[in-house]
Amino acid sequence: PLVYEWSGISDLETQLQKLLGIKKVIIVDGNLDLEPSVKTLMGVEAVTQLEQYAKPQDIVAVTGGSTVAAVSNAVQKSNRLKDLTFIAARGGMGVEVQMQANTIASNFATNSGNDYRTLYLPEHLSEAAYNAMKEEPMVQEMLGLYEKTSIVIHGIGSADEMSGRRKSSEAERQALQKSGAVGEAFGYYFDEKGKAVQRIRTVGLQLEQVKNCPTILAIAGGTKKAKAILSYFKNAAKQTIFITDMAAAQQMFKII
Ligand code: BG6
Repeated sequence: PLVYEWSGISDLETQLQKLLGIKKVIIVDGNLDLEPSVKTLMGVEAVTQLEQYAKPQDIVAVTGGSTVAAVSNAVQKSNRLKDLTFIAARGGMGVEVQMQANTIASNFATNSGNDYRTLYLPEHLSEAAYNAMKEEPMVQEMLGLYEKTSIVIHGIGSADEMSGRRKSSEAERQALQKSGAVGEAFGYYFDEKGKAVQRIRTVGLQLEQVKNCPTILAIAGGTKKAKAILSYFKNAAKQTIFITDMAAAQQMFKII
């Protein structure tokens, strides 16, 4: 039965990889909505992938969220993770400290014995503030690092949950709904067809920069995120490696 189960998971991984049109899918058994330990196991799988693809001098951009936080907790010092710089994919604050990209970048670096750079800016910037900030040397340095980023580690959220977490106003939420936003990743909201319909204006990695990265690890699971995950992958970079759980994988096949 054990052999059967494992071949079952690997079949599902191949099917999902084909459905999403990406490089690789790794499925962990269970449902993270119900069992928090599933997130830890997904974190361990993501670290194995990171160890496989990271090279000395790589800049690794990480997003916030509890799932990428679980990856940072699973990371350890290793010969395969040498001379890396971890940076926050976006400078935004505005959610709990433990969930912020800056905190998670420093956690990755501390646990693996590497460097990190942080940038603390408000989550939403007015156009005038954004343009002024861009000229600051610290921000310029960060923008330079985004250009050189070769690995991205990001979560995927449902648009509803993320706008709630970001304490978006009623008007902003309505605008999001109207634009058809379903999924969210690194501050961009995506509709059912995978089109980026809105983004948060703050200093951060641009969608085009993500797409140009040779290594992208996306980590998200749980039944509740299935729709959001499908929307994001409609138009995501083909080189993405996706780590998820059984519950999300099965739910995706139910929806399509
Ligand atoms: C956010 C990331 O901080 O966390 C998003 O910027 C992601 O990319 C979200 O959608 C997911 O959070 P969680 O806690 O569900 O892993």
